[in-house]
Amino acid sequence: MSVPDMDDVAMADSIPRIKRIGVLTSGGDAPGMNAAIRATVRIALYNGLKVSGIRRGFQGLIEADIDNLELADVGDIINRGGTKLLTARSEEFMTEAGQKRALDVLRMFEIDALVVIGGDGSYKGAKRLWEMGFPTIGIPGTIDNDLAYTDLTLGFDTAVSTVVSAINNLRDTSSSHGRVSIVEVMGRHCGDIALFAGLAGGVEDILIPERKFDLDDVARKILQGRRRGKLHSIVLVAEGVGKSYEIAERLEALIHQEVRVTVLGYLQRGGTPSVTDRILGAQFGQRAVELLLENKFGRVVGIRDNKIMDQDLEAALNEPKRFDQAKYDLAELLSL
Ligand code: F6P
Repeated sequence: MSVPDMDDVAMADSIPRIKRIGVLTSGGDAPGMNAAIRATVRIALYNGLKVSGIRRGFQGLIEADIDNLELADVGDIINRGGTKLLTARSEEFMTEAGQKRALDVLRMFEIDALVVIGGDGSYKGAKRLWEMGFPTIGIPGTIDNDLAYTDLTLGFDTAVSTVVSAINNLRDTSSSHGRVSIVEVMGRHCGDIALFAGLAGGVEDILIPERKFDLDDVARKILQGRRRGKLHSIVLVAEGVGKSYEIAERLEALIHQEVRVTVLGYLQRGGTPSVTDRILGAQFGQRAVELLLENKFGRVVGIRDNKIMDQDLEAALNEPKRFDQAKYDLAELLSL
């Protein structure tokens, strides 16, 4: 990634060996963030680094809400959703004054490098600090799975399981009543939660922002299913598609049957992290600290083709998200 001016380059180049790192979580919390915090802190301490835990993301950084972290401080969190360090979305950090203040605080606390755990908004924050010459490393933590450079982000696997478990429950009651249900899931502009949960949950249709849909086709499929004796229909709608209550009204008019809406909302963000998210958290934390020890900054860690990898932060942010057409087609085929 390019660092803007030579002063900043000189500053980055002249950084002595990292002695103290900071770690923060920012944006929407995600199961597995705690596993990543734990790994980052412990691997750093084992390597003789000191660690500062910054609470409430970039906002807490600006407000110097910071404490020293020792081995025991990250005990008993691997099994918990949410984030021990708390999180926030900071308007103030978007401003130049906020960013300068953040930099001052980092210097004040003698923090030499920062590990940022979060999604694309948090990565933009990390990028800004790196552009100002401050060493940063990003760990992908968001249920949305919307960062293109990594096959998985922390929290996605758990969120998908939560959605599938909700679909299972809905099947029981929908079959009993012979109902059509729309289930709205999170994901911002990305349809991955809907796609993966739809395929795993065996729903009738998946509406996602990456693919145009025709409600007439959805209606036709539901009616065909009913004719074949299907007791219920579940349509999964990613939040990026639009308002699910409006979609339900339009669908009702087409199938002449009541359509019930369930918005899963924040339920998807909580809960015990899955094994996958815990292991990813551990591996991401480990690689993040390794990079810092190798004086490699302005990078993000991830997993690709089952291998832990790292990549330039700016390149990662610019990479367009690929759509998993094969999974989409398979879900479509199996739902007939
Ligand atoms: O990015 C995670 C996410 O849960 C998105 O899926 C959702 O659109 C958004 O955060 C909700 O944000 P907030 O917590 O600010 O309401």
